[in-house]
Amino acid sequence: MKNIIVKTELLCKSFISDGEINNVIKNLDLDIFEGDFTVIMGSSGSGKSTLLYTLSGMDNVITGKVYFEGEDITRLKEKDIAGLRKNKLGFVFQGINLIPNLNVYENILSPTYKTNKERRKIESKIEELLERMDLSAHRKKFPNQMSGGQKQKAAICRALINEPKILFADEPTGALNSSQGQNVLDIFTDINREKQSVVMVTHDLKAALRGNRIIYLKDGRIDGDLRLEDYDKEAANEREETVYKFLKEKGW
Ligand SMILES: Nc1ncnc2c1ncn2[C@@H]1O[C@H](COP(=O)(O)OP(=O)(O)O)[C@@H](O)[C@H]1O
Ligand SMILES: [Mg+2]
Repeated sequence: MKNIIVKTELLCKSFISDGEINNVIKNLDLDIFEGDFTVIMGSSGSGKSTLLYTLSGMDNVITGKVYFEGEDITRLKEKDIAGLRKNKLGFVFQGINLIPNLNVYENILSPTYKTNKERRKIESKIEELLERMDLSAHRKKFPNQMSGGQKQKAAICRALINEPKILFADEPTGALNSSQGQNVLDIFTDINREKQSVVMVTHDLKAALRGNRIIYLKDGRIDGDLRLEDYDKEAANEREETVYKFLKEKGW
């Protein structure tokens, strides 16, 4: 049995706009398992990004419960949630939001400020990440001097610098061309093989294939939950058929 890393109970999230209430997440009970590569899919506006924000404590204006490693994070003070986010959770956002006036190296380092991690350890971690993402030679570049793929890889390094327990990614390949996208997905597959838990929102079938679990969100509820073997490039065609069939049944 795998451990549960994130759990929700009767999670609800609503927005009010123009005096109208919009219930986006509705009484959601969800367990995310440690070591899994969980993919969240669903049509545009179905609440995928909203769910990711609530799962990761970025949005705590909710009802219901969210637990991280058994701890109820909806009861934490803002300062403690911020600490949890910084030390245990990693994020790669939709679009790439590197800090424009910091170079790659400084961008990746930025989440380590005000942590009590040893400088030497941080430096060796950043070297390992730069090497792995093929960014070593680009460390002094600013975001506007790099390609979309390089920027996304820098954003992934930044998300991983504090060695999070779980990595959340919202459409990480959305802004990339197909080969850049595959490159980024290969990185996700690799880090997941090293037991890193990943939760990724995507609307891209090729990206979804990387998961070992695909959750389909519809009108704020879970409408499908597909389990797969771990990703294997050799069996990708068969996998694509299975996932495509699942998605079509869900009205994707
Ligand atoms: N900050 C917000 N304020 C008001 N409504 C929002 C906000 N964020 C999302 N929504 C609404 O919530 C619904 C789901 O949005 P979102 O989670 O972004 O969907 P998805 O990522 O699946 O495309 C949409 O109807 C959207 O308009
Ligand atoms: Mg979204």
